[in-house]
Amino acid sequence: LKDARESLMIVSGFAQKFFTRYLWEENEGRTIGLSYFRERSFRDDILKKFEVGFAPDGKTPFTEAAQKQGYKIEFLEKTGLTIKRDDWMRDRFAGRVMFPIHNLAGRVTAFGGRTLTNDKKIAKYLNSPESEIYHKSKVLYGIFQAKREMTRTDKCYLVEGYTDVLSMHQAGIENVVASSGTALTPDQIRLIRRFTPNITIIYDGDAAGIKASLRGIDLVLEEGMNVKVLLLPDGEDPDSFAKKMGASGYLEYIQKNETDFIQFKTRLLLKNTENDPVAKARLISDVIGSVAVIPDTITRSVYIKECSRLLGVDEQVLYTEVRRQKYKQS
Ligand code: CTP
Ligand code: MN
Ligand code: MN
Ligand code: MN
Ligand code: MN
Repeated sequence: LKDARESLMIVSGFAQKFFTRYLWEENEGRTIGLSYFRERSFRDDILKKFEVGFAPDGKTPFTEAAQKQGYKIEFLEKTGLTIKRDDWMRDRFAGRVMFPIHNLAGRVTAFGGRTLTNDKKIAKYLNSPESEIYHKSKVLYGIFQAKREMTRTDKCYLVEGYTDVLSMHQAGIENVVASSGTALTPDQIRLIRRFTPNITIIYDGDAAGIKASLRGIDLVLEEGMNVKVLLLPDGEDPDSFAKKMGASGYLEYIQKNETDFIQFKTRLLLKNTENDPVAKARLISDVIGSVAVIPDTITRSVYIKECSRLLGVDEQVLYTEVRRQKYKQS
């Protein structure tokens, strides 16, 4: 079993090196892949740090090259690099720029591949399937490149996408990981906790990003960790906004504008509340819903104080509401 996993990692490592070499050295890779990254203003040192690459276009150029090097079709199939049926096969990632996903030890276990077309019918990103070495729900993109800085700063930024991670590094912010678009899981939060209990969520500034942030908040709190949120302007994500702001002011902007989850939820919900008492009651109950999932009593009381101040509601009333909601949750 151990050997089976090792074989899959060896194939994945070969694929990463193949795609990276193809990006930098082959004409197709340079003119299509490298130009794409450069048009998006990614620096060479960042591209190299994340070992990005390009998968040649065509039916099976990668699979053939791998087989020629002696890699068995069984392992190419199990890693999802090759899609094989009874009577045909093809390269999964053909014609895409490649983002290898590293495990904590820095070994490649999976890939995300981005299409270069703007065709809405084609999935923007393709990802490796689940395998013996890749469990999507337990992995965070960028953890290997971030872990040291997460420990040093005692903080982790959580973003949605591959290019968000690259752009943050390019702006000098290295304690960043991506949930890669999927719904955040407790396993992913616990992975962050191995390095720091402090998370700031910086999801895309759209309806989906806000919804995912709200869900993320409760998940982080349930694990007994601390969560802040930075709401980006509508339509921006950490990559696009970094490029708009310029690298130098980015960290300062984030530090100035991140808020604790109470303020984030209050501000968000107050937008639709005005002076309507029913709507305000719903807001309070919603914010208290997040406080109620915090396991630690003392931490809870700190946030109740803040709620009381921000919402102008008596602390004792909020304590009663916490008890009511905890009862509901259990
Ligand atoms: N994603 C995915 N499959 C898709 C779309 C998105 O797996 N069809 C994941 C990717 O990990 C992506 C993340 O969700 O990085 C966030 O999606 P999105 O915001 O749409 O993409 P960006 O990361 O902003 O990518 P880009 O800047 O290249 O457009
Ligand atoms: Mn396993
Ligand atoms: Mn998005
Ligand atoms: Mn995005
Ligand atoms: Mn983007």
